Amino acid sequence: MSKTRVAILISGRGSNMMSLIEAAAAPDFPAEIVTVISNRPEAHGLARAASAGIATLAVDHKAYADRPAFDAALDAALRACEAQIVCLAGFMRLLTPAFTQGWHGRMLNIHPALLPSFKGLHTHERALAEGVKLHGCTTHFVTAEMDVGPIIMQAAVPVLDADTPDTLGARVLAQEHVIYPASLRLVCEGRARIEGTRVVIDEFALGDRALVSPSA
Ligand code: GRF
Repeated sequence: MSKTRVAILISGRGSNMMSLIEAAAAPDFPAEIVTVISNRPEAHGLARAASAGIATLAVDHKAYADRPAFDAALDAALRACEAQIVCLAGFMRLLTPAFTQGWHGRMLNIHPALLPSFKGLHTHERALAEGVKLHGCTTHFVTAEMDVGPIIMQAAVPVLDADTPDTLGARVLAQEHVIYPASLRLVCEGRARIEGTRVVIDEFALGDRALVSPSA
């Protein structure tokens, strides 16, 4: 089986990155993680990726004059490692339309809320403040507008009366670690097709092997 070459972009601790790396270690996973790139050289996730045997690179945004210059360097790094798909995993830089257009249909993001609710930052605090009873996470294709692209998968969790942003965030994060590898699998298997503003999943069933127990 020829595996899709995937690059992961991070800025921080990299727990979603690790969920992708761990999923991709399975022989039947359709993707291989070829590199992890951080815009912050000090990002903890870089060391975690290196420990897992993945090539890492820092492209420090502070070294570039402006966003287009940084994005051009990032794009060159991604093309140099022959990435076919890019996964944003806690990557905290806005990307230029030229960059997102160049990776249209080939760049994924994970967002810690049920989009289109709670785009942007501090989603768990805002969900608690709004009093929503369900919160969750979303994987989507990246487009020029932040947190807006076609949705691939979502997982919902209950919001409990005693929740703090931390307890709610932990419940959401556990689901992020489930749906991001499952979404990457769907995309790499060619089963997630963009149709306008939506994603259509071919032959999708909840019994999909990506979503059932690890022993399946
Ligand atoms: C996650 O909550 C992700 O949804 C958001 O940023 C956070 C990154 O966490 N985009 P981690 O670095 O993957 O642990």
